[in-house]
Amino acid sequence: MPCNQKLSLSDDIFYDIIGHEEAKELLKACLLAEKPVHVLLAGPPALAKTLFLWDIERATGEKAVWLVGSATSKAGLWGLVAERQPQILLIDELDKMNAADTAALLSMMGGGRLVRAKKGTDLNLSHPLWVVAGTNRLTGLSPELLSRFAVRKIETYNRSDFLTVVKGVLVRREGTDPELADEIARRLDGRTQDVRDAVRVARLAPQLGMEKAVRLLLGT
Ligand SMILES: Nc1ncnc2c1ncn2[C@@H]1O[C@H](COP(=O)(O)OP(=O)(O)OP(=O)(O)O)[C@@H](O)[C@H]1O
Ligand SMILES: [Mg+2]
Repeated sequence: MPCNQKLSLSDDIFYDIIGHEEAKELLKACLLAEKPVHVLLAGPPALAKTLFLWDIERATGEKAVWLVGSATSKAGLWGLVAERQPQILLIDELDKMNAADTAALLSMMGGGRLVRAKKGTDLNLSHPLWVVAGTNRLTGLSPELLSRFAVRKIETYNRSDFLTVVKGVLVRREGTDPELADEIARRLDGRTQDVRDAVRVARLAPQLGMEKAVRLLLGT
């Protein structure tokens, strides 16, 4: 259903994301703005970029359409947006989008008018469309596409953030005992900055013990 009502978002939309306070504030402001401000979250792996998109999808339900890289149907992004008429388009892995969908996206992000793709697939964009996307890299994305986004870089965690995030993720998402989570976070401190390493250690620790899990997984 087409819809241009102002979004209502709960204040704790990103409750399961630890830290990233500025990105949270920016995203909320952009989603609540009267007119679209598109956001691209860019940064290395395992920094919760996809989690941001999930949270927006969870909070906005049917108003959002989710896409990883390119649209999979033959009708492509035009077809998807024409059919579903979303208010929010969530695109994970924007750097993997194909040329046809990227061209469609460029037109859609202008917004506020009827865009003619081909006969029978006119797209009424008088209903504004918000785009929130994630990417690992900015290289390869065209300047005209980047110009349409507020590009928010997500930086690799510093040591203290890494400790907090690892403990939080292990306890809250993995159900790890808080003491073990703390031990794993300290053991990995300075050895890796990838939260997914900690998750792997936590998953193997019951079988192997924490020390052996770290040694086999990370070789240290
Ligand atoms: N700040 C954080 N708060 C909560 N969970 C986090 C945070 N940072 C990382 N994680 C956890 O790390 C894992 C990876 O997160 P996610 O998939 O969102 O990363 P990503 O930035 O999209 O990575 P990629 O670029 O590889 O796709 C998830 O299990 C997620 O719960
Ligand atoms: Mg991701």
